[in-house]
Formats: sequence, structure tokens, C-alpha cells
Amino acid sequence: MGIPTHIAFIMDGNGRWAKQHRLDRSEGHAKGAEVAEATVRLSADRGIRYVTLFAFSTENWKRPENEVHFLFQLLSEYLLEHTEEMIKKGVRIRFMGRMKGLSPALQDLIRRIEAQSFSCDRLQMILAVNYGGRQEISDGFLRLHEALNNDPGRKDEMIASLPETFERYLYLPDIPPPDLIIRTSGEKRISNCLLWQSAYSELYFTDTLWPDFDEKCFDEALKEYSRRKRRFGGLDEHPS
Ligand code: IPE
Ligand code: IPE
Ligand code: MG
Repeated sequence: MGIPTHIAFIMDGNGRWAKQHRLDRSEGHAKGAEVAEATVRLSADRGIRYVTLFAFSTENWKRPENEVHFLFQLLSEYLLEHTEEMIKKGVRIRFMGRMKGLSPALQDLIRRIEAQSFSCDRLQMILAVNYGGRQEISDGFLRLHEALNNDPGRKDEMIASLPETFERYLYLPDIPPPDLIIRTSGEKRISNCLLWQSAYSELYFTDTLWPDFDEKCFDEALKEYSRRKRRFGGLDEHPS
């Protein structure tokens, strides 16, 4: 395989990084945000077209209120500080998740940035915030159900073409599924990230903590991806 078109990052290990450095967890998140920014830049340089950053899961609300508050503050600051420069670099910024759970101010900021960056076409950066794969599938199911109720005449046709019809009701149906999912920090799980879209993604796990994830780590992941053989249920070579 060559270069992945879409990479999703499960940016994990900020808290452990902070602990290693005897810092507050918030400092780990702040360093993590810098690494996220650098990673998007590197991705553009490497010719990657879509980058999903899993920044806050629907389960992360379980964390202490001050940590949750800090994470959202950091997200707003990140967007305010970097949007202009990202737009200049051709980065389109998109949001994926349950928007309604966010503060009205953050919702406004996100909508504004999505509109401002709409025509950028070098790379799409997808921010998965208040995102959960199960929630995305449940929300999609409800929307499909509503569509069927509004147009019962199309029911048979839509049901006959499942799962393709269903995919159109996910949050960002125009974005191709991730070719590669990179999770840092040594945990080997998906933690509700892109459950539907990851069906045939290559998974890459590294012990490196997210704040230490640098160009060398990134290139190692790309190299490993280039050695993988993706079959999608078929065979390596098609006998002619
Ligand atoms: C990832 O780092 C950031 C978020 C999930 C928001 P963690 O905060 O999960 O770091 P660890 O897992 O505690 O080290
Ligand atoms: C996954 O990290 C979610 C994000 C990176 C946003 P977590 O730290 O929340 O995952 P678990 O709890 O270890 O599975
Ligand atoms: Mg974690």
C-alpha cells in the first residue's frame, strides 16, 4: 500500500505523559494540542487528504468537571489560534459528533470555521468531539427511521440497498473510511472511535504517548502501513 488517504488518530496518553513529567494533566492536554497541530501539518506534507482527530469521546464526560472544562477551553483556543493559518495551508475543518451537547458559543465557533474553510481542498481535518461510534450509528438509525416514515413509498427500495443506504445517514457520509487508525499510549482498543467506518481500517498501535508523537513516529506508522496487504475479503492477486 502507498500513502493512506485518510488517517484517524486516537490521541491517547496525555495524562500519563503529564504524570511522567510531574505535571498537571492539563499540561499533558496542552502539549497534546500542539502535537495535534503539528500532525495535521505533517499530514498535509505527506499528501494525506483526510485526518480525523479523536479529541473528546461521548464517554469522556465521565471525567472530573475541571478536566472537561479545560479540554473544551483548549479546543476553542486551538481553533481561534490556528484556523487562519490552516485555511492558508488549504485545510478544511469539519466537526463530527453530537453538536447539541456543546456550549452555544463553541457551536457558533465551529459553524463559523466550517463555513470559512469550506472551499479549502488540500486536506480535510475532522474534529471528532463529543463523538461516539455507537452514538453515531444510533443517531443514523433514528434519521433513517424518520426518512422512511416521511416517505413510506421508498421503504422497500431503501431496505433492499442496506447497508449502503444506511451509511448516508452517518455524520459525514462524504468522507471515505479511514485507511489507517493510529492509537498512541499502548492501549489496544478502539474506545468507540469510528465503529462503522473502521470495518477494514488498518490498525496501528504504538506505546508512544500522544504528546511524544513526532515526525519519526508518524513516518514509522506510514512505513508499517505501506507494508500491509489489504484484501477487503478478496485475494492478494487476482488470477486472470
Ligand atoms: C487523551 O489523553 C485525551 C483525551 C481522551 C481527551 P488521556 O487524557 O486519555 O490520557 P491518559 O490515558 O489518562 O494517559
Ligand atoms: C479515547 O481515549 C478517546 C480519545 C482519545 C478522545 P480514552 O482515554 O478516553 O479511552 P479509554 O477510556 O482508555 O478507553
Ligand atoms: Mg486515555
